[in-house]
Amino acid sequence: MRVIITNDYDAMSKKAAEIVAKTVMEKPDCVLGLATGSTPIGLYKELTRMHKEQGLDFSKVRTFNLDEYHGLAPDHPQSYYYFMYENLFKHINIPLQNVNVPNGLVKDVKAYCAHYEEMIKQAGGIDIQVLGIGGDGHIGFNEPSSSLGSRTRLKTLTEQTVKDNSRFFKKIEDVPKFAITMGVGTIMETRKCLLLANGAKKAKVVAQTVEGPITAQVTASVLQLHPDCVAILDQEAAAKLERKDYYAYVERMTHQLTVE
Ligand code: GLP
Repeated sequence: MRVIITNDYDAMSKKAAEIVAKTVMEKPDCVLGLATGSTPIGLYKELTRMHKEQGLDFSKVRTFNLDEYHGLAPDHPQSYYYFMYENLFKHINIPLQNVNVPNGLVKDVKAYCAHYEEMIKQAGGIDIQVLGIGGDGHIGFNEPSSSLGSRTRLKTLTEQTVKDNSRFFKKIEDVPKFAITMGVGTIMETRKCLLLANGAKKAKVVAQTVEGPITAQVTASVLQLHPDCVAILDQEAAAKLERKDYYAYVERMTHQLTVE
């Protein structure tokens, strides 16, 4: 795993945007895997700026989101579709028929999840997948003990996740208890993963993910097996990494190699 430690949230977001934008410029019809949560908001702001000021073109890009709350309609203010629309889609020139967020209202969830997987396949697979990390180490909504080979499916959220995400709802009872999420296996098939984390709250789980054993108890830890995973962290989220200095050294050395 490549580990990039940035000074702060802003620098983390800009670095992530630089990598996503590079993919979009090199492959204008690329397939982006997107995430919600507070972590990628800065990345989406920066991509919006690049679109508005530098003409970064999303007209041929297709997107697949990781997850959606079960039972929430796309126009529900706490749905992940709504989040994506408000934070990114409405600000850039992506045709809405090119965006895919799991549908939280489907009746036949099993068939729908198989269909979502099929759509990703038909699109040629995901070129770059943006990931945040939950306090318990989940990616998407793959809670602890999710199979590391799992596919898109319905997951029951842990009490902790419901509590963590209740800050976006009026009251905790309003937080859905289930979500449709890409599986760990689905995420592992993407060509590149960008794991973002900021703030002291994530320091412990980041250390477990990057330097701990690979375990279904911290589903993000399986990213150690991904052939092209870049973790972009701010100083606070990186604080508990034992090899922090080495990661910074690697980045400096790589930079030297590329400029020489
Ligand atoms: C939710 C999402 C995850 C996200 C996590 C962390 O559980 N399903 O994709 O990574 O929240 O959220 P935040 O970025 O707000 O810390």
